[in-house]
Amino acid sequence: MKYNEIRKTFLDYFASHDHQIVPSASLIPNDPTLLFTVAGMVPWKGILQGTEPAFAPRVADVQKCIRAGGKHNDLEDVGFDGRHHTFFEMLGNWSFGDYFKEGAIEMSWELLTRVLGLDPDRIVVTTHYSDDEAVAIWKKVAGKDAILLGDKDNWWSAGETGPCGPCTEMHYDMGADLPGGLPGSADEDGGRFVEIWNDVFMQYDRDANGNLTPLPKQNVDTGAGLERWAAVMQNKLDNYDTDLFVNLKRAVSDITGVAETTENVSSFKVITDHLRAVGFAIADGVIPSNTDRGYVIRRILRRAMRHGQILGHRGALLSKLYPALITEMGEAYPELANNQSRVVEIIQNEENAFADMLQNGMKLLDAELPKLNNGILPGDVAFKLFDTYGFPLDLTQMILRDKNFDVDVAGFERAMAEQKERSRANTKGTRVLWESQTQLADTVDGIKYAPVPTSATVMSILQNGEFVTSATPDAEVEVALDKTPFYGTQGGQVGDSGELRIGDDVVMTVSEAARVDGVVIHKGTLKSELHVGDTVVATINPSVRQQTARAHTATHLLQAALRAVLNEDVEQRGSKVSPDSVRFDFRFGRAMTAEEKQAVEDLVNKWIAMDIPVLHEEMSLESAKARGAMALFDEKYGDTVRVITAGDVSCELCGGTHINHTGEILRARINKEKSISSGIRRITMSVGTLAE
Ligand code: ALA
Repeated sequence: MKYNEIRKTFLDYFASHDHQIVPSASLIPNDPTLLFTVAGMVPWKGILQGTEPAFAPRVADVQKCIRAGGKHNDLEDVGFDGRHHTFFEMLGNWSFGDYFKEGAIEMSWELLTRVLGLDPDRIVVTTHYSDDEAVAIWKKVAGKDAILLGDKDNWWSAGETGPCGPCTEMHYDMGADLPGGLPGSADEDGGRFVEIWNDVFMQYDRDANGNLTPLPKQNVDTGAGLERWAAVMQNKLDNYDTDLFVNLKRAVSDITGVAETTENVSSFKVITDHLRAVGFAIADGVIPSNTDRGYVIRRILRRAMRHGQILGHRGALLSKLYPALITEMGEAYPELANNQSRVVEIIQNEENAFADMLQNGMKLLDAELPKLNNGILPGDVAFKLFDTYGFPLDLTQMILRDKNFDVDVAGFERAMAEQKERSRANTKGTRVLWESQTQLADTVDGIKYAPVPTSATVMSILQNGEFVTSATPDAEVEVALDKTPFYGTQGGQVGDSGELRIGDDVVMTVSEAARVDGVVIHKGTLKSELHVGDTVVATINPSVRQQTARAHTATHLLQAALRAVLNEDVEQRGSKVSPDSVRFDFRFGRAMTAEEKQAVEDLVNKWIAMDIPVLHEEMSLESAKARGAMALFDEKYGDTVRVITAGDVSCELCGGTHINHTGEILRARINKEKSISSGIRRITMSVGTLAE
């Protein structure tokens, strides 16, 4: 029986027992105590606790889960056996105050033995030692004597606090000739018995002090790993030999040109597992980053790339495998295909950023290892790998485990703490230093932020919180120039992106220009060595600039239209202008009607069609006030201010970048209008080609 059929059999069985079938919830839980959805019950925690009403008394689903951080973490085990996954699918059925122990055990038993046809003699069951009721039910329903186990095995909770209770597990005997003993015995992990289902009887709520309070209703929460069911149904000892993984591993072979062997099988397992975790998480909205769940996904992705490298593969891997994931799982999870281009782009960016660092970091490691005679990599080397080459500690440990080396983790943590201390000490001095080292020259030929390539001198380079005189490729740095065409993020407008070149070579890709005390700082990654004093040509990305300028002028028109349609008192509370959207918050006591929204959108588009000239002028604050310019924020303005005027439609004090004629905006479309807090509304709007 293949994956698609097992999912269907499970759901059909519970549908025929009056369960409402629901789709999987997101991997990003609506729960601050968890990084990921770690079990099928996570979306139902509020219902189990009694703080949310149940939408149905009986529910069943197949839930996407990731266990790769926090209390439930299987990351380190992936690749070493045939049972562990960071991403997996959990089959689950729930009773919210409806059936309890007897109903749950009866249905589990019927589905396993009568519907799926598993041999009853090959199933052993365990219960919590205190749960006499469950013991008696197993005797009655299946004629089984349960093995009694303690809190470690037969008590379940998702996090440190929240709903929990005793559970009963079903284990399948994969074959008498296999090593391994009964659940609870010293060699229970030997491989012979595999846990295939866990029925949890959610009876208590645990508070932060560990106290248990009975829940208002008695509930059932069950979870079964689909991958394990597939192994049992397909008679495989290893989950990675079931149909879905065989196909994914074939795709790995196709892309790397390497066949699976007993020597390299762990790499195949790691890559296929990590493809699922990374692909599904990003499809659900996780963005790889340096914190929280974003960092878990970045680490998983980097581990996968390392295993690609072991197979002799260079560069992008998971982004190339993503279509194979859609082929295997896209039918059950349409979000994979719906987000394909976004997911592939995000993975590609991550892979591009790490590919060279991986090669260079491995060179450093290969040079260091022969020097060591105690089998332990010093903490400062592990820290350099982390800091300069982006190797998460667990990646370094994984690499070294194969070579029988350990890492001095305490030394690594010391190096990390020292660096934090240095950068804390530096932050104070940083602003002053920026100012003394740089002079802002954001005017080119008299035009502020003119989007023309500008020759400039590198005044300072900041790396990891310290000023350096030069930095090498791959370093993430912040660079100040003596003049620049880049607009640095301020006043709600996102800064420019672009590049610094020397001759024809790009020396730095600038992901965002920021502003520190009035100085524009170019943030990004070096492509080649850069020194203080180098002459570079600073070039902004013109299409991003143009789209941002459209968005910014459109924001002024939006404000004018809101005042015209709603009333003169509409007061701006904040805005965010980025190349792809406008967010505008304003004070207004109620939701806008559909007609009002349409009228505002129509008015903005009318002004766009009129192609009104947009003037950018500098003048004294007094003259600006005399002209009736709106000053929007509780901001301090200098003596000379910038005023942006669109005919008699709009006149605002503003430091941002704008277009020269309203017609350049092309079109504006209001997407949403909603409340963000009491009395404050938020409008989001698209402009230009994005509003077509
Ligand atoms: N919530 C239970 C588990 O994850 C069913 O094992």
